[in-house]
Amino acid sequence: MSLLDAARLVRENAYVPYSRFKVGAAVRTTSGAVYVGCNVENVAYPEGTCAEAGAIAAMVAAGETAIAEVCVIADCPTPVTPCGGCRQKLAEFGGKDVPVRLTTTDGAEWMTTIGELLPGAFDRTQMERS
Ligand code: THU
Repeated sequence: MSLLDAARLVRENAYVPYSRFKVGAAVRTTSGAVYVGCNVENVAYPEGTCAEAGAIAAMVAAGETAIAEVCVIADCPTPVTPCGGCRQKLAEFGGKDVPVRLTTTDGAEWMTTIGELLPGAFDRTQMERS
């Protein structure tokens, strides 16, 4: 199954009683394995989690930490873009050149990279003196 199909499929399971905005995310790791996540909202709104965070959590729970490719899908007018927090989460596990495919359910897409999504990311080299 393609990464896009994996993201499309998991999107159906999104728990979104408040926004009604379903998002699906899939990451492929350097091992070739695919991990998926959907957004999970909560009546206490800030407790909701994004699809990207779910996919990353599944990857780490499976013992992997190296993202090679990302795909995100939602039903929106232009390709869905990860929130700021998710950009930082992606940057934790994938290099600047890792491809990110941002899509809509009707087929629009933006091919970008983790580095392009989060220029000037805070990273571990900045803590080297500590
Ligand atoms: N959301 C994601 O899961 N990923 C994104 O890339 C954008 C936003 C979710 C969070 C919330 O459940 C809903 O979309 C509306 O913000």
